[in-house]
Amino acid sequence: MITIIAGTNRKDSYSLKVAKYYQKQLDLKGYGSEVISLESLPDNFIVSDLYGARSDAFQSIQDRITTSTKFVFIVPEYNGSFPGVLKTFIDSCLFPDSFVGKKAALVGISSGKYGNIRGVEHFTGVCHYLNLHTLPLRIHIPYIKQELNDELDFFKEDTLRFTDQQISAFIAF
Ligand SMILES: Cc1cc2nc3c(=O)[nH]c(=O)nc-3n(C[C@H](O)[C@H](O)[C@H](O)COP(=O)(O)O)c2cc1C
Repeated sequence: MITIIAGTNRKDSYSLKVAKYYQKQLDLKGYGSEVISLESLPDNFIVSDLYGARSDAFQSIQDRITTSTKFVFIVPEYNGSFPGVLKTFIDSCLFPDSFVGKKAALVGISSGKYGNIRGVEHFTGVCHYLNLHTLPLRIHIPYIKQELNDELDFFKEDTLRFTDQQISAFIAF
């Protein structure tokens, strides 16, 4: 099972919109996937789900992570890196069952100029520490607010081509 993780808990995030776009494209290629938005984390998860604690609400997310073998992370740029809530989520997930030995594709997005090049690099380091194998083709999408049409699909020729290449490569990975 492929799970797409929208890497922020910000409401109305572009990360979730991009996650849904990836889900739609995987579907068109015949691969089912699930989206987990960090918005669905329990409000108090830094208390209820860190350091061995586990709430029922988080457990159902944990079960979906445990049974997934491939992940797409949509990683927004927050202060020149990936969001703290994404790292806290990773820290809350069961080790080693969650990510060790599995595979991931990384997509950086930002409202600014760089498409989270640095944050995806930082997050790649965390993935490698976890022995979560990352697809070498990482995608960076700057100026994300100009990238989606009314149907919330990408429409620019280069974005369509690069994301399609990444999705095909990830299916084969
Ligand atoms: C706390 C915070 C920090 C941010 N820092 C940056 C930044 O360093 N560079 C940038 O281009 N955009 C930055 N942004 C804007 C995000 O890139 C923007 O919200 C974009 O839509 C992707 O994030 P989203 O999934 O929250 O929508 C920041 C946004 C937040 C909420």
